[in-house]
Formats: sequence, C-alpha cells, structure tokens
Amino acid sequence: MEINGYNIIEHQYDVVIVGAGGAGLRATLGMAAAGLSTACITKVFPTRSHTVAAQGGMSAALGNMGEDSWQWHMYDTVKGSDWLGDQDAIEYMCREAAPAVIELEHFGVPFSRTADGKIYQRPFGGMTTHNGEGVAQRTCAAADRTGHAILHTLYQQSLKHKAEFFIEYFATDLIMEDGVCKGIMAWDLSSGELHCFRGHQVVLATGGSGRVFFSATSAHTCTGDGSAMVLRAGLPLQDMEFVQFHPTGVYGAGVLITEGVRGEGGYLTNSTGERFMERYAPNAKDLASRDVVSRAMTMEINAGRGVGEDKDHIYLNLQHLGIDIINERLPGIAESARIFAGVDVTKDPIPVLPTVHYNMGGIPTNHHGEVVTLDGDNPDATVSGLMAIGEAACVSVHGANRLGSNSLLDIIVFGRAAAIRAAELITPNTPHLPLQQGTFEQLLNRFDKTRNASGKHSTASIREKMQRTMQQYAAVFRTGETLQQGAEKMQEIFASFEQVGITDRSMQWNTDLLETLELENLLAQAQTIIQGALQREESRGGHAREDFPDRDDENWMKHTLAWVNQKGKVRFDARPVHMYTLTDDCDVIPPKKRVY
Ligand code: FUM
Repeated sequence: MEINGYNIIEHQYDVVIVGAGGAGLRATLGMAAAGLSTACITKVFPTRSHTVAAQGGMSAALGNMGEDSWQWHMYDTVKGSDWLGDQDAIEYMCREAAPAVIELEHFGVPFSRTADGKIYQRPFGGMTTHNGEGVAQRTCAAADRTGHAILHTLYQQSLKHKAEFFIEYFATDLIMEDGVCKGIMAWDLSSGELHCFRGHQVVLATGGSGRVFFSATSAHTCTGDGSAMVLRAGLPLQDMEFVQFHPTGVYGAGVLITEGVRGEGGYLTNSTGERFMERYAPNAKDLASRDVVSRAMTMEINAGRGVGEDKDHIYLNLQHLGIDIINERLPGIAESARIFAGVDVTKDPIPVLPTVHYNMGGIPTNHHGEVVTLDGDNPDATVSGLMAIGEAACVSVHGANRLGSNSLLDIIVFGRAAAIRAAELITPNTPHLPLQQGTFEQLLNRFDKTRNASGKHSTASIREKMQRTMQQYAAVFRTGETLQQGAEKMQEIFASFEQVGITDRSMQWNTDLLETLELENLLAQAQTIIQGALQREESRGGHAREDFPDRDDENWMKHTLAWVNQKGKVRFDARPVHMYTLTDDCDVIPPKKRVY
C-alpha cells in the first residue's frame, strides 16, 4: 500500500518479536516451537546483539559446587534490590532458574565443567547461602563468554524451529489502536523499504539505553528503541532513575571486565595498595553488590586515594590467580585488558572505573511478560497485544539494584515465560482485522520529518551534549542541586532536537537517519532518568542521593511511573511494590537495613 509517498509492505504473523538478544531469541524459539507463526525483527545480526558481551554467567541454585537453594537466591535478590523488587516475580525467576539452565544445556550451550562433569558455577557479588551467612557458588559460566555461548545456541535453535528473521530492520513505532497493540512499523536498512508487521502479540526485547551516558559497557546499539516506542504510544516507563554502574569498566574505554574476576579471587586496591573493600563491606568485601562496590570506589577516588597520574581510577588485581586459571576461566578479559588497557593481566593490575552498565528500570510488565500500566485504580492493568522482556522490561525483579548474573537469568526465564503466555493467549493463524484509516499517517509523519530535518544542530553534537550531561549530573552520587542543574540542561538539549539537521535523505543504509532516530529514542529516556532521580528523595540501591542518604520505605517504597510528552516534559505517578509471593513455598522477605 502507498501512503504519504511511502510504499508499505504488510506481513501477518501470530507474534512479532523485536530484538534478537538472549530475551528475544528465547521468546522467538519458544513461540516458534509452540506452533505460532513467528517473526523476529532485529537491527543487528542476531549473534551481534549485546547479549554477546555478557561475560560472567547466569545465576541458578543448581548446587553443583556447594549447598544452595532457590529460596536463598530469592532472599539475595530481594535484598540486592533494596526491597524495590516485586517478590512474586523474584520468586518466579529464582524458582525457574534451575530448569531454565538445564534446558539451555540441552539446547547445546557449552558450559564450563567441574571435574565430575557438572556445570561449573562461580561466586558472584551478593550471592549467598543461608540468607547472607555463606558465599554461594551460583553463577553458571561458559568461561567468561557466557552470553556469546547462549546467543549462538538460541539462534541455532530458533532457525531449527523455523522462526523467520528480518535482519537489519529498524523498528520505528508500535501500531496502536484504541489502546491495543496491533503490530509494528519497521525500516529495512538495506533495501530502504518500510514494513508493517502485524502480530497478535508484539514482544519488545530491545535492551537497555546505556548510550544515554558517555561511558557505558553497553554497545553503541543500546539505544532503548522499544522503550521509546512505548513512551510515544502514551504508555509509561518504570523506575528509570535506577541505573547500575558496574564497578569494573576499563578506565578510559568503558569495556566490561567481568565481576567473575572477583568471583575467581581478584580484588581491588587503591593508591596505597590497600584492599579497601574490607573497610566498606567487611563480610562480602570485593563481592558486595555492585552499588556498594561502585560507591566505595568513588569514595576512595574522592578521598585522593585513586591510582594513576590523575588519581582518578582503581586497580583490579588478578596477577596472583596464575596463568592457568586465567587461561581457563578468564581468557576473554585477559584479551580485553591487553587491547583496551595495554595490560598483561598475569603481571599487572587492570585500571578500572565504575561504568554505566544496566537499566533496572524499563517497560513495566507482570511475570508473564505482559506490559502493564496504571488504569484508574488498577496498577496492574495489562496492555492488550504488548509484551516486553529482558533489559527493556521492568518486571521488576531487580528493583533498585541488580545482582550480577541475574541478567542472563532474567532474559532466559522471562523470554521463556512470554512464549508460554503467548501460546496460551493465541490460536495459531487467527486472522488480523484491517487497521483503521489514518493509523499509518501519524507514524510516517514523524519518520518523514526526521528524514527531512534541516536544522542547525548535528546529531553527533546533540548526542555528545546529552551523554556528557548525563554522565556528570546523574552519576554514582547525586544531589538535588546537581540533578536540578542537569535536568535544566537536559531540557534544553531535548528542545534542541527540534533543530536537528541531517544531510543524507536516502532510504538505503542511511546511518545519518538511523542515528538520529536512535538519538530521539535516547533523549526521551534521558528525561525519565534524570527527572526521576530528581524527584526520588531517598537513597536506594543504585540511586544514591547525598542530600537524602537513607532509604525511606514510608514514602518511597513504590515504583516510579514516568510518561514523557513531545516537549520532553515528564509526568510521574506510582505503582505499589508487590510484597507478596506466588506460592507457599517461600515467605515474603520484610524490609531491613542492608549490611554487607
Ligand atoms: O560482570 C559481569 O560478568 C556482568 C554480569 C552481569 O551484569 O550480570
């Protein structure tokens, strides 16, 4: 069909998944295997999705290397979340972890092995036994390339089940009518054609928006495209102020050095050579949760005990582990340290700095992957036809702070849950009703406006201003004053997008237009992050306010909901935290002070 001068090619499927990282592929595989006609739309080749960068592993209480139970895993996850996680969803994730890993093993994921042939498991931050008493070895690893191993296996399995892939297609907008999601619009980057994909469920598995910040472990493709589509559809994002800084990004480059290094016995030191984590977290030390370690590193640097010429970073030591352990369990980070820091890890420490790593917030969903919103008095109203999974979603299992290795778990468990739910909801090959008049015009107008934008600001200049502003004003430590300044700057930067100009008007491989559409997506999310941080007057998990240093359960134990209008103004509301479990197999974990 021809609309506004654009030819639109229409496709009809039972389900349409946007994104081919671990969550998207696990959902794709499950839906195709359930007999649903399944399309997976992805802007990069599936095995280049950002999951490929996940290193340390996937948590599951298998108990292969010491005693363990999913209830202890649940306790750690609730505590790690600083009591902002929904306990029903956390129960579901921790309970389903062991079957999900075993299933991956059967699909063919080449996990590392113990001497007796079981899946190898390493310690990770915040993962304990007996509710904080001992150290759990819970993180299932394929050396330090676990995401890579999972992604390749899931892609092969999806092809085996005849899922159809639309590769290097950029999803631009949700097709919504009367509050129901009916499909998505996508731009084929190679041919330049526009496509409409109809689906009875659209599943957003588009990852996080780490590239809002200047220094991030996230790939440059992590622009939160699905979350921005949700905002444009008039739906809210949840808990966006909670951004995780990973303690060990390579200084200067931001590239991830896995927490698995500390799990294998590596440790941090300051300029005096002191293992300072012993002071901040006497029990867990270097394996305290990430928010705690990132803050401790920042405090050491601020106290003048950073290393290097400018005393602005910290050392990560693994020389003592020996070449055999490094080659067997940490070969990937040895290579990254050599390439990005010029360091031979068998001889010298790696210079590291806390670096933006993960969005705890995202598209609110229930534990089936269905998108939810506030509808009158109902905080759990589902949005018909729309699901979200993985880092794009906020289930919320991570609350205010995610534990390392709970992300690979989240993407697999909830990718699988979404497939189970879709199979319950959809009868294969149910026909699609025609769309209403005018549905496409509005979506095409936005695309066309950006394609023909001829303002005075380049995409790169607006993006750099946004990234530097967010890095400086929405950092590890925040105050009302700096957040206010940052929010004002971000409002100006958002407004300057009206004057963006691009020079390439073509439709084929127009990276100028692609980056501009991605920037538009990032800008809306930056507003939710910085303004959400300004309004939340407490410290919880990854959100550390120097002017409100304590957690305030009375006023703030609630999920933030944020809507953004076309001018970048953010409106807030809230949903309650789920303080209940799904079954009688575990108890609700009541809030208490976190001690490490
Ligand atoms: O440190 C890491 O390997 C990262 C893992 C994670 O974010 O879950």
